[in-house]
Amino acid sequence: MFEHIERVPGDAILGLIEAFKKDTNPQKVDLGVGVYKDDQGNTPVMRAVKEAEALLLKNETTKTYIGSHGAPAYGEVVLPMVLGEGSPVLEAKRASATQSPGGTGALRLAADFIAKELPGKDIWVSDPTWPNHLGIFPAAGLTLQKYPYVDAENRLDFDGMLGALKQIPEGDVVLLHACCHNPTGFDLSREQWQQVLEVLRERSLLPLIDFAYQGFGEGLDEDAYGVRLLAENLDEVIITSSCSKNFGIYCERTGCLILVAKNEEQMENVRSQIAIVARENYSNPPAHGGSIVSEILHSAELAATWREELTEMRDRINTLRRDFVEALKPYDLDQKYACVAEQRGMFSYTGLTPEQVDRLRDEFGIYMVRSGRANVAGFSHKNLPYLAKAIAAVN
Ligand code: LMR
Repeated sequence: MFEHIERVPGDAILGLIEAFKKDTNPQKVDLGVGVYKDDQGNTPVMRAVKEAEALLLKNETTKTYIGSHGAPAYGEVVLPMVLGEGSPVLEAKRASATQSPGGTGALRLAADFIAKELPGKDIWVSDPTWPNHLGIFPAAGLTLQKYPYVDAENRLDFDGMLGALKQIPEGDVVLLHACCHNPTGFDLSREQWQQVLEVLRERSLLPLIDFAYQGFGEGLDEDAYGVRLLAENLDEVIITSSCSKNFGIYCERTGCLILVAKNEEQMENVRSQIAIVARENYSNPPAHGGSIVSEILHSAELAATWREELTEMRDRINTLRRDFVEALKPYDLDQKYACVAEQRGMFSYTGLTPEQVDRLRDEFGIYMVRSGRANVAGFSHKNLPYLAKAIAAVN
């Protein structure tokens, strides 16, 4: 039965974890998978998370099912975090939250929902986008199309993007990155979000906003600008949010599918369908990650600690971006890589070619995705001089 099945290469991003572990070079540097690292290269458990887990261990009374939409206490805190305290969308009861196994799980729920309820609608993603988007939507039976996002000089191609959005058939779905665009790090300005809103409205396009890195760009509220603008001004919006990254609970897979509908009645209809989609995928989401998030955000003290820790992470990444460009100055490469200081979030599309990335791996033990995407959180004050020297050698 299985004789015809061929072996395929593993996932390009997750494969880097294993390849890095095996490398015996003492100077090796991991700029691969998108997890935050401190200056020692560790991904520690956040203080607020540790405290919340201690409380959960003490107070938890049951491990029974939490329902297909997940724990109501989790939805209660995620909705205002994403849509804003006092959001008119929340006041009008237009938004529904469904806890999901990570942001990836939320994307799959969205994909299955679109395939079932909006048959014949294609999904448009930025070129480039997170490689897993290219897998998730076709796996759910959707046809994937692309709109331009970066130009040949490795700059945001907003005119190209907007021009392409204007040509998309009415009613299709457009995937947008809320902030910290993965893989490029190029984000839209407020004026650009406004222009995108106008095109979406004119052409009746349905936005699906991937919001995996809230808090890693400019701030929790600042990063939500585009999401809130669209949710408040359009009848229908789909948002896939993640707490796996900003709470540093990657392995707890903590996401949320948020559906914004025209009114409460339509929201309840859509919500009932999402429960079925979740049930058919995995029945109930795992509880632990959501419990951590709601424990933290329901406590003023823990929430303040968490915000402080998130700010530290964001500030560290933004400082490293500038320090990276500075480290390239002695090699006259600071102008060439100046974009790294302008981009936001965990990732930078460096402009390094696949051949240069291969050389960095083989000759220097520096690991990143072959597209030239580097996880900036993998930079450290210790490895920056080594990185700069290696990049100069392959240029
Ligand atoms: C990444 O892009 O590195 C992260 O989102 C992790 C993943 O699942 O790919």
